[in-house]
Amino acid sequence: MRPPLKILAIPGSLRARSLNRAALVAMHALAPDNLSLEIYPLDDVPLYNGDLDHDGGPAPVRAFKEAIAAADGLLIATPEYNYGVPGVLKNALDWASRPAYRSPLAHKPVALLGAAASVVGSARAQGQLKQVLLGMLSEVFPYPEVVIGGAHQRFDGDLRLTDEATREHLGTMLRAYGEWLARRV
Ligand SMILES: Cc1cc2nc3c(=O)[nH]c(=O)nc-3n(C[C@H](O)[C@H](O)[C@H](O)COP(=O)(O)O)c2cc1C
Repeated sequence: MRPPLKILAIPGSLRARSLNRAALVAMHALAPDNLSLEIYPLDDVPLYNGDLDHDGGPAPVRAFKEAIAAADGLLIATPEYNYGVPGVLKNALDWASRPAYRSPLAHKPVALLGAAASVVGSARAQGQLKQVLLGMLSEVFPYPEVVIGGAHQRFDGDLRLTDEATREHLGTMLRAYGEWLARRV
């Protein structure tokens, strides 16, 4: 049997009580046998500065890029800020996108989901993120948008996912992502 495929799961929020990170924690427990998830927080990634973008960039950036390179696929959980991708996430992806078209993000499979307060639950941010990723030559998992709308009502005070329909939805998406990845390697 093949070892599990390595999935780097990236929450696009730094908040201690981030619902996007909570969704990825829930997915960690839902992962099928052929996937292993590692959650990678973006806390240490500095703001992009082209003057520092040489020799792989500052140490936290190098670590982030190495983690992407070592992964078989990414799983990004993005919040939606003012109908768009939060700066924290875009900033980290900008670092990782260098050198252009030869970065660890080029040809890297990426699956998206998002938790947000509104009923459209990050759909607008995900649309933008897809476009951004295509600019980096990443290969976005073709799947209907996985949105967790009204997200505050779907997790309890301990940030455990309590909504059964959401749990099922996330599990189905992960299995489909695992099958899609397995067909590619
Ligand atoms: C600056 C800002 C802008 C926001 N804009 C939106 C928005 O456009 N759509 C939306 O659904 N929620 C919006 N929200 C609410 C977020 O969806 C909500 O705070 C969500 O829980 C953030 O994700 P997190 O829990 O992973 O940090 C916004 C929140 C902030 C702080």
